[in-house]
Amino acid sequence: MAAIIDGKEFAQRIHDFVRAQVWQIQQDAGQGSVPGLATILVGEDPASEVYVRNKGRKTREAGMASFQHRLPATIGEDELLSLITELNHDANIHGILVQLPLPAHINSDNVINAIAPEKDVDGFHTRNVGLLGSGQKAMLPCTPLGCTLMLREHFGTLKGKNALVIGRSNIVGKPMAQLLLADDCTVTIAHRYTENLIDHCRQADIVVVAVGKPGLIPGHWLKPGAVVIDVGINRIIQDGKTILVGDVDFASATTIASAITPVPGGVGPMTIACLLYNTLTAYCRIHQ
Ligand code: GUN
Repeated sequence: MAAIIDGKEFAQRIHDFVRAQVWQIQQDAGQGSVPGLATILVGEDPASEVYVRNKGRKTREAGMASFQHRLPATIGEDELLSLITELNHDANIHGILVQLPLPAHINSDNVINAIAPEKDVDGFHTRNVGLLGSGQKAMLPCTPLGCTLMLREHFGTLKGKNALVIGRSNIVGKPMAQLLLADDCTVTIAHRYTENLIDHCRQADIVVVAVGKPGLIPGHWLKPGAVVIDVGINRIIQDGKTILVGDVDFASATTIASAITPVPGGVGPMTIACLLYNTLTAYCRIHQ
């Protein structure tokens, strides 16, 4: 049976670390100085509302300041860009996060690239993407960072492992592949046009799945002893109840893999913990 990689417990350790650092900052710099995170939610997507609310709650629990902006789905791109400019210049704000996806009439690239790169705690700004790709110090995207930390803790070193990333989004798949490459893995990126996905799975010591399709990867596709990181969060109805499942068929995967992240309680809590960590990092870099 596979070991369960407990993201919730690991995330709590990061959270405690960040909270202790924030406390120290307050002691050193006075009560008024704490890292501040601004979130911007456009529209009323229920899943995004839950994510943003949780991010705000965790930010406050870590002793940091949370500034939540809610804007109607009808807002114009110019107005959103003006808000970002204002936040870029606000000395109380060290991190800015625009929850994605944005409504179709807004160009997400324009919005992301309007954020000051040093406040881009999502690591989505073109500058941070380029820094990561060229092996320089960058703000790292939260979900891939959380996955990497769990893998490093499990393996010690990832050097030489065959890693398969399934999904090529800008938020998870592409930066995940870059981080695994930076950790000396041999990396394959699979996507909707990949042929014979099963053959790639069978070769992989590490499988990171970020697609959004429940049951996409059955256990018998995995190499025996593989370590599986399941980024998917899918709501399905089972026996009349709504439950959360990942992209990997958990029951069959646990019989083949050596370790696997559960959904919920795996990658999700690590993403928020890494957001807090990035906000602290942004504060330290801005004040250094
Ligand atoms: N939507 C889904 N994941 C993310 C994320 O990590 N950051 C932002 N800003 N939006 C998201």
